[in-house]
Amino acid sequence: LGIKSKTKKLAGEKTTECAVIGAGIMGGGIAHTNATKGIRVPLKDINQAGLDLGLSTAVNLLEKPVKRGKLNFSKAATALNNIIPTLTNESLKNSDMVIEAVVEDPKVKSIVLKQCEDAAMDNAIIASNTSTISITQLAKSLTRPENFIGIHFFNPVNKMPLVEVIRGKQTSEETVKRAVAYVQQIGKTPIVINDCAGFFVNRILTPYMRAYSNLLAKGADFVFVEKTMKKYGMPMGPAELIDVVGLDTSAHVLELMSQNYSHMPLPENNIVQALVENSLLGQKNGEGFYTWSTDRRGRPV
Ligand code: NAI
Repeated sequence: LGIKSKTKKLAGEKTTECAVIGAGIMGGGIAHTNATKGIRVPLKDINQAGLDLGLSTAVNLLEKPVKRGKLNFSKAATALNNIIPTLTNESLKNSDMVIEAVVEDPKVKSIVLKQCEDAAMDNAIIASNTSTISITQLAKSLTRPENFIGIHFFNPVNKMPLVEVIRGKQTSEETVKRAVAYVQQIGKTPIVINDCAGFFVNRILTPYMRAYSNLLAKGADFVFVEKTMKKYGMPMGPAELIDVVGLDTSAHVLELMSQNYSHMPLPENNIVQALVENSLLGQKNGEGFYTWSTDRRGRPV
């Protein structure tokens, strides 16, 4: 792995390098947010196609404000230069923060997290962006579980201010403090919660999605519900929200919550799951409750 930096990161010191592992929807967005705050980002994936996708996410997010005159070209170029695409773990040797954002599979994540721990700085924070997997469980693969924590961003990362900081059973208070400071450093709002199924947001959101699915199954008018919830003040209707989150992700969360909380059983007629079975995944593949167009700034048509 080459020479690893042994310099200890002290509480209160700013994060200078945050490696992001997995250059997908979330990884690309997390890399972009870090890079715009002057943090170096080794961005790692298992293949070039994955890396290209993550980089194009970051490039698009930088290009848009430049075209609209909201971001100066040289600042955008500096931010882009902060992202260092890589296919190897060697590039993590100076990272004091690592955020894992690979596929939502506990076995894959456990292997990747251990590799990150071995490759990064000795007391680097190793964080997972998992939406549903227990932080305490994932910590079992690590030699230094006290340095491990959940840092859960929301999609789209550049627009969503909230970040959940999830304390596992073995996470140290110093790690919690450093993670909170890091989230603030990148201009987001951290909330600290103890590890539990659904963390905070999904425990609130799941009953809403479940109630929506039940309403649809009972014949509620789709357009009426969408419009009414917007008039109520929600930025988007429930169908649009589920499309943005991803129907597969939403179905997985509904399932997980039903297994963990008796007051959140699966919807009576699980429309979200039915759409997934018909390969309708929402914004990510262009078809969900809505058909998504790419030429209208991602708004559903
Ligand atoms: P994605 O499928 O878009 O990206 C995953 C990336 O990880 C792919 O580029 C894949 O090539 C890469 N990858 C797979 N195995 C790898 C390995 N061993 N080493 C390096 N890279 C590897 O997934 P997405 O949606 O970005 O989700 C990533 C994580 O973020 C998941 O844990 C998910 O639950 C979580 N999350 C997803 C949200 C969403 O709305 N999509 C929201 C919040 C969290």
